[in-house]
Amino acid sequence: MLEIKNLSVRVDMKNILKDINLDFEKWKTYFLLWRNGSWKSSLALTIMWHPKYKVISGSITADWKDILSRKSDEISKAWIFLSFQNIPEIPWIRLFEFLRTIYNEYRRSIDAEFKNASIFLFKKKIIPYLNELDIPEEFLERDLNVGFSGWEKRKIELLQIKLLEPKYIILDEIDSGLDIDAFKTVALELKKLKNPDNTMIFITHNFKLLEILDVDFAYVLSDWEVIDSWWIELIRKIEKHWFCAYCNLDESCNKELKCE
Ligand SMILES: Nc1ncnc2c1ncn2[C@@H]1O[C@H](COP(=O)(O)OP(=O)(O)OP(=O)(O)O)[C@@H](O)[C@H]1O
Ligand SMILES: [Mg+2]
Repeated sequence: MLEIKNLSVRVDMKNILKDINLDFEKWKTYFLLWRNGSWKSSLALTIMWHPKYKVISGSITADWKDILSRKSDEISKAWIFLSFQNIPEIPWIRLFEFLRTIYNEYRRSIDAEFKNASIFLFKKKIIPYLNELDIPEEFLERDLNVGFSGWEKRKIELLQIKLLEPKYIILDEIDSGLDIDAFKTVALELKKLKNPDNTMIFITHNFKLLEILDVDFAYVLSDWEVIDSWWIELIRKIEKHWFCAYCNLDESCNKELKCE
């Protein structure tokens, strides 16, 4: 379980998250349905120990172990993976070496005796994933994400999830900027990756994802507090409510939506 208790966070002397309480259980899928600018990405970066975000109070634990005192690399090795909303481009780091390094480090965190996968063996391991995601093999020779299209960057994130099999997978707007085919691929790949050992946390504004993924819980946040948690059947109500805000502005409003 990933547990956030009474978390308050400050960035650049400004108080942001205030007394946040969230639980993410094993084998469940969560949606964080919060408004733009409601600190969702900030929360994800705080979990991953971004140095700008200072925790003033509260705790974050993964499998009952404190992770607040750990730095990003150790948090990754505690099997938490964050797929960034804005995926950085990192020059001078070859994609192949990046993947091989994180794979070796991950494996060693599970098994101290693990010996680094050789270039040859790692290539054998990674090629099937490249094929599944339709990523050309030449990409392995390119610098990490440098010049990659938005969709190609998203595929590299999926590749890392397949390779590392993290327990807690935080996906910050993984669907943003994707066309309908790419969107379907992402949703279906993630559905395949779901297993009894992992927890998926979607930060998104996209209700379409609900139609493809089996969501157990959605957290809705307003004014820095989690105002309620809604079972999946009730999410439709939120969707309807949000669209109704537009209805009221539009005289040609489709009354079939039966807004309340
Ligand atoms: N390092 C920082 N310094 C100053 N302000 C910051 C910093 N990080 C985030 N903010 C501000 O915090 C607010 C929330 O940002 P954040 O990206 O967490 O929102 P969000 O909920 O993810 O929004 P969206 O849905 O648009 O992605 C924004 O006003 C942003 O400018
Ligand atoms: Mg964001």
